[in-house]
Amino acid sequence: MNATTSCRVCRGPVEEFLDLGRQPLSDAFRLPDADDDEFFYDLRVGLCGSCSMVQLMREVPRERMFHADYPYHSSGSRLMREHFEATAERLARTELTGPDPFVVEIGCNDGIMLHALAERGIRHLGVEPSAGVARVAAERGIDVRIDFFEEATALDIAATHGPADVIYAANTICHIPYLDSVFRGVDALLGPGGVFVFEDPYWGDIVEQVSFDQIYDEHFYLFTARSVQAMARRFGFDLVDVAALPVHGGEIRYSLARIGERTPSGAVAALIATERERGLDRSATARRFAARVHRVRDDLVTLLRDLRAQGRRVVGYGATAKSATVANFCGLGPDLITFVSDTTPAKQGRLTPGSHIPVVGPGDFRTARPDYAVLFAWNHAEEIMAQEDGFRAGGGRWIRYVPDVQTV
Ligand code: SAH
Ligand code: TMP
Ligand code: ZN
Repeated sequence: MNATTSCRVCRGPVEEFLDLGRQPLSDAFRLPDADDDEFFYDLRVGLCGSCSMVQLMREVPRERMFHADYPYHSSGSRLMREHFEATAERLARTELTGPDPFVVEIGCNDGIMLHALAERGIRHLGVEPSAGVARVAAERGIDVRIDFFEEATALDIAATHGPADVIYAANTICHIPYLDSVFRGVDALLGPGGVFVFEDPYWGDIVEQVSFDQIYDEHFYLFTARSVQAMARRFGFDLVDVAALPVHGGEIRYSLARIGERTPSGAVAALIATERERGLDRSATARRFAARVHRVRDDLVTLLRDLRAQGRRVVGYGATAKSATVANFCGLGPDLITFVSDTTPAKQGRLTPGSHIPVVGPGDFRTARPDYAVLFAWNHAEEIMAQEDGFRAGGGRWIRYVPDVQTV
């Protein structure tokens, strides 16, 4: 019998459909000589039978994930920098046009989006609990509050700065189990007629591409338009627009406004209808997805063991948070993957969480001339393959596992 729990949004019954096993914190890169006990939890995922929200069965305490040493720096990718500059330009043009507009970003990280609004002289505040990345944003001239966004934070911001015209978040709302408090905060801080915009990985794309590595401790929720609409309405808001984004393997940008303040665009009903046709709200679909996940695991492990038996040198590319799920679910360690290359200084010289594969810089990748590289950062494939064109030219092959295992 699969476990059930109650939905973090609506208290309905959540039925487990996939067990990804014992997992470490996905961003807890370890020093080679660390001797403390590594934290592990059971990564299991379920579907709410009531509101159809896909969510983890167990929550990891937020302070364990988001702290001064949180290593993910958003500005590491050129594609993402361009994406957020375009986002800032769009917000400035469409929503921040009144006198002295004010925008709050939840999870601003190193300021990848806000810097473009700050440069336009727009009043802004980033709320970011991970002090290390928040400091980078502050050094770029961005106003940052080192804090978790929740009701109390929002009340304090509203009292100090006044109402916000836009509350924005990217790849952050799905990280927050306590969304009831977040919505109370948004309601307290958002001015009349204001909009709450957030973008996160889309469950529809994850199912289609079997990108199960989007499931890890930080991604507590995997949203659909239907589940976001149900959640919004529960908290006095409505889903008024949706837009598909070609980043991080497929995301949706959701725009929410207080019920009755804006007319929902036709795109909302259209996307929800498509989701219903695809059965994204049904547990049979979720269980079929789980079966495909197991197939990908078996194919990847078979390939890597065969390559090892043939004496091939296999490494990884991109020490992503996502890759923790793959490495630990598939039992990959330094015996199968010699090292993982990553441009993030805070990850280099450390070991991947749970799987303990050394992380090195791209210079070491180039001098090592491996035979194969598992593309863990598959969402940055174009950017990475262009940077590393010498790898394939020298006979190297990429191993991809989304949507299925193949060498290219
Ligand atoms: N917006 C950036 C960062 C995404 S990573 C981007 O899209 O690239 C998620 C960020 O959310 C981290 O920097 C983390 O510290 C932050 N975060 C987690 N919980 C939060 C909360 N309750 N309030 C605000 N930020 C939070
Ligand atoms: P993400 O998939 O969560 O955005 O993480 C991408 C990781 O890949 C991050 O640790 C940085 C790394 N990376 C590289 O090593 N080289 C690159 O060219 C890019 C774009 C990312
Ligand atoms: Zn629910």
